[in-house]
Amino acid sequence: MTEDCAVRIAECGVAGDGVSIRNPKSEIRNGKGTFITFEGIDKCGKTTQAKRLVQTLTHAGHEVVFTREPGGTAISEQIRAIVLDWKTDGMTRCTELFLMIASRAQHTEEVILPALHDGKVVVCDRYADSTVAYQGYGRGLDLATIAGLNRIATLGLTPDLTILLDISIEEAVRRRGCAVISEDRMEQEDSDFHKRVRTGYMTLARLDPDRFLVLDGGQPVDRIEEQIEQCVLEKLEARET
Ligand SMILES: Nc1ncnc2c1ncn2[C@@H]1O[C@H](COP(=O)(O)OP(=O)(O)OP(=O)(O)O)[C@@H](O)[C@H]1O
Ligand SMILES: [Mg+2]
Repeated sequence: MTEDCAVRIAECGVAGDGVSIRNPKSEIRNGKGTFITFEGIDKCGKTTQAKRLVQTLTHAGHEVVFTREPGGTAISEQIRAIVLDWKTDGMTRCTELFLMIASRAQHTEEVILPALHDGKVVVCDRYADSTVAYQGYGRGLDLATIAGLNRIATLGLTPDLTILLDISIEEAVRRRGCAVISEDRMEQEDSDFHKRVRTGYMTLARLDPDRFLVLDGGQPVDRIEEQIEQCVLEKLEARET
């Protein structure tokens, strides 16, 4: 653990101190980099849109790092394999929470922060909001505790922009029906679980409107892409001036 991380753990505390579920504005200097995250329930179109955005930004001459959670480093990808594998049986919700947080801690320090300090654009397919939505709203774990753990794992880093793609549960089920590969552990949950997750995301977006761009993920792929591109380019221009 770096000295910086140790100091921040001491500063954060993890629970019971009225911690808001809303992340504080980034306590970490992002350098000249820009941190963009994609969020939303399973099959809302995150990966489709994140890949398109990466292509657009790369063509526009930006240095882009495309990464994902859980995962994004060798250690974190091993954690992903455990936590998402549908064959993993009997995992408690606390174990699931700590694995997500562990994956994020490694990913943030090893990949995201160095890239931001080098002035790159980091596009991340899921980040800290996913843990609030899934383990908090979905599984019912304490939101203040999750906020504290997220602050430790992220070292206080908050995305500059979070794109939340919203689709109905029925649309998610339809899209899952078209998938060729088998479902992961989260996708296997019932529709009430996914409804709570969706509500959680909308609550987070309402609490932090400056950070969130909420889009109707049921629109055609190209139309969503245009809206994301416009917002991201504006954000990047604003940061350059
Ligand atoms: N706007 C859209 N309209 C219709 N289908 C879409 C749209 N966006 C994505 N899809 C399709 O929905 C499925 C899920 O898309 P994608 O993998 O991008 O979602 P995701 O949010 O990354 O899912 P997961 O949470 O499982 O990683 C894919 O088959 C994709 O082609
Ligand atoms: Mg995906």
